[in-house]
Amino acid sequence: MAALSVQAPAKLNLFLAITGRRPDGFHDLVSVVAPLEFGDRLSVAPAPVFSLTCSDPEVPVDDANLVLKAAAAFRRVTAGRPGAAAGAAFVLEKHTPMGAGLGGGSSDAVAALRLLQEISDHAGRLTPEEMAATAAQLGSDCPLFLRSAPVVMRGRGERVDPLPDAAVRRIRGRRVLVFKPGFGISTPWAYGRLVASAPGGYLPAPEAEARLAAWLGDGAAPLEDLLFNNMEPPACAKFVALPVLLERLQAEFGLSARMSGSGSACFALLPESTSIGPIRATIRAAWGDSTFVIETRLA
Ligand code: C5P
Repeated sequence: MAALSVQAPAKLNLFLAITGRRPDGFHDLVSVVAPLEFGDRLSVAPAPVFSLTCSDPEVPVDDANLVLKAAAAFRRVTAGRPGAAAGAAFVLEKHTPMGAGLGGGSSDAVAALRLLQEISDHAGRLTPEEMAATAAQLGSDCPLFLRSAPVVMRGRGERVDPLPDAAVRRIRGRRVLVFKPGFGISTPWAYGRLVASAPGGYLPAPEAEARLAAWLGDGAAPLEDLLFNNMEPPACAKFVALPVLLERLQAEFGLSARMSGSGSACFALLPESTSIGPIRATIRAAWGDSTFVIETRLA
């Protein structure tokens, strides 16, 4: 069989409200998340054992990689089923930076599950319920990638609901610039800062839901009005290069810009007519010439 491949899109949190800490140590959140046209590509060929190679030598290709964690989880759930893939040679073309809040590893994991479904016989595949549970167990950001659309995510990320068509129309196709400084931010560290500042850093769930409902209910409100992220203040307090640039992009270009997820990647919504040359130059002047910058669209 020839190698099969799928896209593993990156994501942006357009709205991210961490609403409080749960008894299990995770956090509850309300988030509007959209996949990007930009991301990784994962290929697979049947093989007797699971293996992974990656275009980026910085990416670990051992059992710590979510692609191989996904493969191990797939094998556990489908153990004993005839026709379930028991091995596969994965090749990851890595474009999404790590430690960025862009969901790169989570998206790769879901891409791996999709490919394993594809190379397994029907009787060996995960049911939709097993697919959802396996994705949720792999990481809080995995379930959202089971839908190839902007969604609302709740709970710790395992409850994913579609958005009304009118809202999707205000999101899909929007031009964005995504940029990440040379450093990443660890997700557990970012949540730890919120815990340290509790309860001040949280947005209570009723307020988060009311904010989201207000945007959904006002069909004339642009996407710019939805942007929110309460993980941004603690990240900005430590990494001052973030607020300096976000404020400059607003002041010089009138752009609405935010951090995505737990950072460190940020994004700006771009009007169609805006030329990105001067914006890119401002970003590189602030964060250095090696700054990752990509123009793409919400998908
Ligand atoms: O689920 P995931 O592996 O992405 O989570 C990484 C870490 O981020 C968790 O160990 C936890 O500290 C924190 N987290 C959280 N609440 C969430 C998602 C992640 O506290 N909803």
